[in-house]
Amino acid sequence: MHTTKKKKSIFINIAFVVTLVGILLFLFSAPEITTPQLPRNDDHNRLFAMDKKVAEKLCVECHTPEEVYETHKDITASTNRCLFCHRRD
Ligand code: HEC
Ligand code: HEC
Repeated sequence: MHTTKKKKSIFINIAFVVTLVGILLFLFSAPEITTPQLPRNDDHNRLFAMDKKVAEKLCVECHTPEEVYETHKDITASTNRCLFCHRRD
C-alpha cells in the first residue's frame, strides 16, 4: 500500500517535469526566431514611437485583413496583436 502510493507520486512528479520541459521547449520554439521584425522604412517609421495598441490599429491600412489572414493561417487564428510577434526593437 505504502509503496504504490510512493510510486504514484514519483510518476506524478515525472509527469510534472515532462510537462514543464514541454512548455519551455514550446516557448523557446515560438515564432520569435523567424518572425520578421517591423521594418525600418518610410511605411513603418512612424509606428515605432507610438503606443503599441495604437500602432497596431494602423497596420491594416496597408496590410489588409485578407492578406494578414493568408500569411498567418498556419501560425495562429488570432493575429490582432501584430507587435507582440513583429518586434520593433
Ligand atoms: C503605410 C503602409 C503600411 C503600414 C501602415 C504598415 N505596413 Fe508593414 N509593410 C508595408 C509594405 C509596403 C511592406 C512590404 C511589402 C510586404 O511585405 O507586404 C511591409 C512589410 C511588412 C513586414 C515584412 C517585413 C519583412 O522583413 O519581410 C512586416 C512584418 C510588417 N510590414 C508589419 C507591419 C506591422 C506590424 C504594421 C503595424 C504596426 C505595419 N506593417 C504597418 C506597408 C505598411
Ligand atoms: C502570433 C504571432 C504573429 C502575430 C500576432 C502577427 N504575425 Fe505577422 N507573421 C508572423 C510570422 C511567424 C510570420 C512569418 C510567416 C512566414 O514567413 O511563413 C509573419 C509574417 C507577416 C508578414 C509577411 C512578412 C514577409 O516577409 O512576407 C506581414 C506583412 C505580417 N506578418 C504582418 C502582420 C500584421 C499586420 C499583423 C497584425 C494584424 C501580424 N502580422 C500579426 C507572426 C505573427
